Amino acid sequence: MAVRKVLEYGTKSLREPSKEVHKVSKKIQDLVTDLLDTMYARNGVGMAAPQIGLNYRVFVIDTSKNDEPLNPVVFINPKIIKKSGGFSAHEGCISFPEVYTDVRRYKKIMVKALDRNGKPFVIEADGGLLSSVVQHENDHLDGILFIDHCENRFEVDNLLQKYNLPPVEEDKLFNGDDWQAAPEI
Ligand code: NI
Repeated sequence: MAVRKVLEYGTKSLREPSKEVHKVSKKIQDLVTDLLDTMYARNGVGMAAPQIGLNYRVFVIDTSKNDEPLNPVVFINPKIIKKSGGFSAHEGCISFPEVYTDVRRYKKIMVKALDRNGKPFVIEADGGLLSSVVQHENDHLDGILFIDHCENRFEVDNLLQKYNLPPVEEDKLFNGDDWQAAPEI
């Protein structure tokens, strides 16, 4: 299919919630192909539909290492059905320039979704890249960005300022209370 233009931070639709997919139609399958093509072209480990301007609840990931075969996983209408613990992950996002920062994520998650053929599946992660990527991409479907979870907003604001981008939004910021309540497992 096609490598698509990736919308950048500051674009309004990146903050808008995405719609459920009612039918895994040809249109949705084409969207999945474009997401994969665009993610690989940008050397990303994940990409969500709103990042290419289509606000549907679809994202793709590939957490395989360079020396491993490709391992694309497609999530349609994902739902995080279990989450516990917390850990710190170093993240960036293809919708941002060189902005990388530490964010707080749940450690253990269980996610259910439909695959690209509309078949339900469940995936579990216990920390590490898989855990953070799934949460990062799932957030995109609700207009939530990784900087909203940052551990140090001043560090992020400095980085954003370098690129003349808007600062972290106070009302979007997740505070630390959740994490203090969630013991490490
Ligand atoms: Ni992202």
